[in-house]
Amino acid sequence: MNFTLTEEQMAVRDAAREFAQKELLPEVIERDEEQRFPAEQIKKLGELGFMGMMTPTQYGGSGMDTVSYVLAMEELSKIDASASVVVSVNNSLVCWALEKYGTEAQKQKYLTPLAKGEVIGAFCLSEPEAGSDATSQRTTAVDKGDYYLLNGTKNWITNGNSASIYLVMAQTDVEKRHKGINCLIVERNMEGFAVGKKEQKMGIRGSDTHSLMFTDVKVPKENRLGVDGEGFKIAMTTLNGGRIGIAAQALGIASGAYELALKYSKERKSFGKPIHEHQAIAFKLADMATKIEAARLLCLKAAQLKDAKQDYALASAMAKLYASQVAMEVTTEAVQVHGGYGYVREFHVERLMRDAKITQIYEGTSEIQKIVISRALLTEN
Ligand code: CAA
Repeated sequence: MNFTLTEEQMAVRDAAREFAQKELLPEVIERDEEQRFPAEQIKKLGELGFMGMMTPTQYGGSGMDTVSYVLAMEELSKIDASASVVVSVNNSLVCWALEKYGTEAQKQKYLTPLAKGEVIGAFCLSEPEAGSDATSQRTTAVDKGDYYLLNGTKNWITNGNSASIYLVMAQTDVEKRHKGINCLIVERNMEGFAVGKKEQKMGIRGSDTHSLMFTDVKVPKENRLGVDGEGFKIAMTTLNGGRIGIAAQALGIASGAYELALKYSKERKSFGKPIHEHQAIAFKLADMATKIEAARLLCLKAAQLKDAKQDYALASAMAKLYASQVAMEVTTEAVQVHGGYGYVREFHVERLMRDAKITQIYEGTSEIQKIVISRALLTEN
């Protein structure tokens, strides 16, 4: 496996790093405190091509590879994981699904504005009683001839209130279980659609997470993504790629916290010398850097497999499982290196520690990744 980055990939990484420093760092603490969506910053990310990074240029995207996406996600997440999750959901859960399964008309109408960053998308699978157990969809899409009648509630939807276009999984034929699920493209202005309560979250507080309500929403047949009954497959294959984005987000949270801890360890003195000269701190830094490197390699491996059009479900689940664990461990240690300063807002690491936790939960908990991994291993031989 070749991990030498191309000139283009390095340029993307540097552009994301610069953007994060210039545009995301100012007010990141205030946005977190006020649970304020980074609307202006997301608009600029769209103008720079970060909202449809892997979408072909003919549909308004940047036509880049997944490795570039991982590099950008790491850089953005080092500074602001609330902004990076918006980028991740739009890129890997919405644009990718539309590109892979959409008709030409759907791509023109929905994918193009999403990839250009003119509008934001959301991916709606989770329900009050169907989180990890995603086949148990209660939302229904009754076939009424030329439209589906959509009823139900979705929970914990990232971009819930900021999105205009929603990919909604719903059960059409209960008898067929997961093979009776459809994925519908729902527009925000469709009658019967309503945005519910905003969640008050521990971390990624700048991103907006809402419940959504669908009451007799008439969704035209031409808004079904893929063939009849393909919705669950669409959701699962989309999440395989989404997990690369979240793994890269976890990696960025970890490396952001590590960089802060390293800097602080050179500045802060105790017992007559900079604290990194104490082995207790130096060993922590060594462990943090090693884990981050291992997580980065798993992310890049998954991305390279996807770019090479090989199976990446196992690699993406491994990358997400490990990188999210590293994010928790490294951010906790970064707080420890900072001592009392690590526990207060202005030193950033406490926010990164809070942000890290969600990477072990969304787009499949760590336990779900272990199911995906173990099943893949058991069917391999
Ligand atoms: N890739 C491709 N196909 C998959 C798959 C994967 N990773 N996982 C399951 N499938 C397919 C299976 O092959 C099977 O297909 P067939 O019937 O054609 O053989 C079908 O899906 C059903 O699979 P199972 O029989 O294994 O179903 P299960 O109920 O035992 O388990 C599960 C499925 C893996 C646990 C699945 O429900 C799952 O991944 N759950 C987690 C859901 C999740 O990640 N939710 C996140 C919400 S989105 C989000 O968080 C976005 C955000 O806001 C940031």
